[in-house]
Amino acid sequence: MANLFDTHTHMDSPKFDSDRAEAIARAREAGVELMVNIGFNRETIPTTIALAEQYDFIYAAVGWHPVDSIEMQPGDLEWIEQLCAHPKVVAIGEIGLDYHWDTSPKEVQHRVFREQIRLARKVRKPIVIHNRDAHEDIVKILKEENASEVGGVMHCFSGSWETAKKCLDMNFYISFGGPVTFKNARVPKEVLERVPLDRLLIETDSPYLAPHPFRGKRNETAFVSYVADTAAEITGKSKDEIAKITMENGKKCFGIV
Ligand code: NI
Repeated sequence: MANLFDTHTHMDSPKFDSDRAEAIARAREAGVELMVNIGFNRETIPTTIALAEQYDFIYAAVGWHPVDSIEMQPGDLEWIEQLCAHPKVVAIGEIGLDYHWDTSPKEVQHRVFREQIRLARKVRKPIVIHNRDAHEDIVKILKEENASEVGGVMHCFSGSWETAKKCLDMNFYISFGGPVTFKNARVPKEVLERVPLDRLLIETDSPYLAPHPFRGKRNETAFVSYVADTAAEITGKSKDEIAKITMENGKKCFGIV
């Protein structure tokens, strides 16, 4: 069985309140060896840390999501900095820009994003990037803030090859989730095909973005197996090879030994 690494999941979500332990057990049965759970605001950072403390195979990323950036208070950046010393915290994220949901003004999103990139450079942690309809500004800010110093993950990448190339040049890994499995996902499939194998990651973003054939349903980490199937199809590699490659890449990216 393939040993899989789900590099982006939210198994602490209330959507798993009725069956979290079972869902995590299903992930293990599906071959998931490691996961990074993402805490992205005041509610989910503590629940993410708790999950990482409960399971040895779950690591944590902590950061402030662009959609929630308006709610970031003085002291929250210091809170994230302190948590970076936690032995299970491997990255800062998810951070970035979201121009789809109109919840936080752009200038607030930009400030919060920049502050967290600076923090990542200070504590030497990779960053996990959330990018929705903001490709140009993401690349611009990553460049201006010297994010290449720490690198990280372009999570659930949905941009063009042109954007992917710029992110690869700044030491980022390109991660694909459920949407790449959709039949009409021409661009993501083309980008995946061109990403160097030593920069490829897979993820679920559970409970969101379930892969085909579960599109529209609740996603869970076990389904990263379907993303691995699609990545194998596109690259012409076996599923085991994809699992091995993305496992090695994930460990390297997050500094997991
Ligand atoms: Ni996410």
